[in-house]
Amino acid sequence: MLGVEDLSISFGGLAALSGLGFEVRDREIFALIGPNGAGKSTVFNVITGLYRPSRGRVTLEGGDLLALAPHQIARRGVARTFQNTEVFRHLTALDNVLIGRHTHLRAGVIRSALWLPGVGREEARARESAHALLARLGLEDVAGVEAGGLPLGAQKRLEIARALASEPRLLLLDEPAGGLNPTETQTLMAVIRRLRDESGLTIVVVEHDMELVMGISDRVAVLDHGRKIAEGRPGEIATDAAAVEAYLGSEDDA
Ligand SMILES: Nc1ncnc2c1ncn2[C@@H]1O[C@H](COP(=O)(O)OP(=O)(O)OP(=O)(O)O)[C@@H](O)[C@H]1O
Ligand SMILES: [Mg+2]
Repeated sequence: MLGVEDLSISFGGLAALSGLGFEVRDREIFALIGPNGAGKSTVFNVITGLYRPSRGRVTLEGGDLLALAPHQIARRGVARTFQNTEVFRHLTALDNVLIGRHTHLRAGVIRSALWLPGVGREEARARESAHALLARLGLEDVAGVEAGGLPLGAQKRLEIARALASEPRLLLLDEPAGGLNPTETQTLMAVIRRLRDESGLTIVVVEHDMELVMGISDRVAVLDHGRKIAEGRPGEIATDAAAVEAYLGSEDDA
């Protein structure tokens, strides 16, 4: 589904990624882990077209992504959430999801403004599928609530709902469990599993919460200073000397 090959990018003199490569299979849950500053979010920024690498290749089902602009990459079926929760706080949960659907609607802003025929029906369909998405993420009861007033766990799921509104095949989640309590994290884990099992999504997740990573991932890649230092099944990573040295061990210290 996703191919990342020999990716390098620097900021000033600092190499954020150096020759990074990995492949994510269709319907896989793939985790990227590593210490702060390892380059995990940078990988997402390159895949979604926000950063241009100095070398390397990124492909989606074999098609080159690097030549495309962010909106084109989104249209190809790539959606993401951001490390810092970014819901529109003064909009309802429902409206947050409707905004995510915007790129997908045939009727653009102009047609809506002119109220041309077809817009009403399309709007009704959009609202219907937004409600369905909220239900899938356990947010149906708060559809009319302002997003800023929701608990963080619900805001994080709302971000995922908004990302899903563009009907992606590949979903990139940047620290979806950041700041969540253990109960909220368990709910989130069940949600992510279901998205793969029932909706057939391929998911790449960046996360520091090792319970989540080890609990839901098929495979894990460990980054350190922009390089991949280990890759394998969760059980293999948990006992991998380099991974433990660079990251997992230091978690215990912390
Ligand atoms: N736009 C940018 N301008 C300058 N430096 C950047 C930029 N984006 C990332 N970097 C640098 O690249 C390195 C990797 O950053 P990145 O955000 O990818 O790390 P990360 O693995 O996501 O870390 P964290 O776990 O803290 O989120 C860091 O040294 C960071 O300061
Ligand atoms: Mg990050």
